[in-house]
Amino acid sequence: MAREFAKVGVVGLGTMGAGIAEVIARTGIDVVAVEVDEEAVDRGRTHIEQSTARAVAKDKLTEDDRAHLLARITYATDLAAVAGADLVVEAIPENVQRKSAIFAELDGIVGQETILASNTSSLSITEIGVHTGRPGKVVGLHFFNPAPVQKLVEVIRTVVTEPDVVTDVVSFAGMLGKEPVVIGDRAGFIANALLFGYLNHAVSMYESRYATREDLDAAMRFGCGYPMGPLALLDLIGLDTAYEILETMYRQSRNRLHAPTPVLKQMITAGLLGRKSGRGFYTYDGPDSPVVV
Ligand code: 3HC
Repeated sequence: MAREFAKVGVVGLGTMGAGIAEVIARTGIDVVAVEVDEEAVDRGRTHIEQSTARAVAKDKLTEDDRAHLLARITYATDLAAVAGADLVVEAIPENVQRKSAIFAELDGIVGQETILASNTSSLSITEIGVHTGRPGKVVGLHFFNPAPVQKLVEVIRTVVTEPDVVTDVVSFAGMLGKEPVVIGDRAGFIANALLFGYLNHAVSMYESRYATREDLDAAMRFGCGYPMGPLALLDLIGLDTAYEILETMYRQSRNRLHAPTPVLKQMITAGLLGRKSGRGFYTYDGPDSPVVV
């Protein structure tokens, strides 16, 4: 019998965590959303309120359904609030030590049957899972940006993940209206392993002034039918996140395709992180605004 997911914890309410909490609450499941402090909780709550308000404005959600969705999410700054959850999805920044520490702490808080999932883009689920007393109940559950829109969810199983846990998480992803794919634990999984070599190559073409940002993006949109060009997509993903993903894949595979193009690091150091900081390859009015410059 399929496992019931009545209550789900989401740890970390950045762009991905907030989107994941919204998607889960939209399905009618209670969500406990945890951030490090009140300020971060407020940012996450605002993100969800704005995103659902946009959905109402576009007639994709009624005011009533939005009110129910928002009421299903409770916020906390203490990890202990996820006690009683059937599943916890961690979506904090890409740092294996911090993720491992969170998993170790969660292990002592939740019930023995609770599944612990990480939304990591490229870090090893196996490495994170061994910091718990239940590596068989640890999986990757990788959403794509923007989480409320992108259909794909990668379910990552390690060599010790229990088969029933994989089945349950796949059916959970289906319940959310997502298309799950199951894959082993290798940096980048399927989509990022294929995508980031291409994105990195576009950055190097831009860095060497081989083509303008507009022409690079136009070529892939109008020539290949991609919804966004590579540089606009990097601005959406966040240059810091993209750099971390490339670095992790490069460390693991030593494939030069994934050696981060130097200008990426320079832009990050200069604070050009993409949409979230107002400027990356392009300049923005706000995180969801159209391109300004
Ligand atoms: N939240 C909710 N809905 C959103 C949204 C958001 N943040 N952004 C856009 N949407 C919705 C819009 O409301 C709109 O819905 P509608 O068609 O029902 O009106 C629909 O998505 C299309 O949006 P827009 O018309 O505003 O703009 P676009 O047609 O350009 O679509 C896009 C925007 C969905 C972002 C599209 O350009 C796209 O799919 N881009 C590629 C994104 C991508 O490749 N993501 C994966 C990145 S890799 C990743 O996430 C992995 C991680 O590990 C880094």
